[in-house]
Amino acid sequence: MTKETMNTIPDIIIAIDGYSATGKSTLAKLIAAEFGFTYLDSGAMYRAVTLHAMESGFVKGEAIDADALLADLTKNGLDINFGEGNRAFIGSRCIEKEIRSMEVSSHVSPVAALAFVRAFVDEKLHEWGRRGRVVMDGRDIGTAVFPDAQLKLFVTASDQVRAQRRYDELIEKGQPSSMEDVMKNLKERDYIDSHRETNPLRQAKDAFVLDNSDMNLHEELVWVKGLVMGRFQLFEAI
Ligand code: CDP
Repeated sequence: MTKETMNTIPDIIIAIDGYSATGKSTLAKLIAAEFGFTYLDSGAMYRAVTLHAMESGFVKGEAIDADALLADLTKNGLDINFGEGNRAFIGSRCIEKEIRSMEVSSHVSPVAALAFVRAFVDEKLHEWGRRGRVVMDGRDIGTAVFPDAQLKLFVTASDQVRAQRRYDELIEKGQPSSMEDVMKNLKERDYIDSHRETNPLRQAKDAFVLDNSDMNLHEELVWVKGLVMGRFQLFEAI
């Protein structure tokens, strides 16, 4: 996209929601680079809180000591921030590798279902999103965090494709897991994420659905650019 066209895109928020491992973040990063927007990964925030809870001893097996986590967050806060290449940090410690591990994946959805954890993350997301020119991905961005986002996407893909993508990602990161475990984790998270009481995963009524099972990233980007250019009546040869 030319600089001129980039500059004519209004200061909008683009909300991308969908099930686990549908490639939301990869697409969101690409859109951010293409439009000159900031990318914000809300899932990384929930993963960071989960890692912190695990390392603090608040997660024991399946059980979470919610009172202890609440007291800790209230007293000490948690300085989650993002560095170069969207890498997640707690304070000055890079936690990017740890938060993508299967251990964190297997505890994140119950932690993210806690209303006070959602309020804690939402406050940061609102702060960062206030200025607009943001692409944010997650589960409840278009329905709860930014219900007035000017463009909402809901991304889906087949179970098989999602599991394969996540399995390949873990291998590439040197954290191999079995296909069976990956699939089980995705399904468990999908279930918890869409059945929790506070802001469950839902498709916003005004979201455009993108099933990317048989699409490559270039095709996805062309599709999104078409939507944005049409909606804001921008013209450029794609
Ligand atoms: O990368 P993947 O799609 O597997 O997950 P993620 O976006 O990193 O999100 C990890 C987990 O955080 C999800 O399974 C949800 O439990 C939680 N989450 C949430 O509850 N709300 C959001 N807006 C984003 C993530």
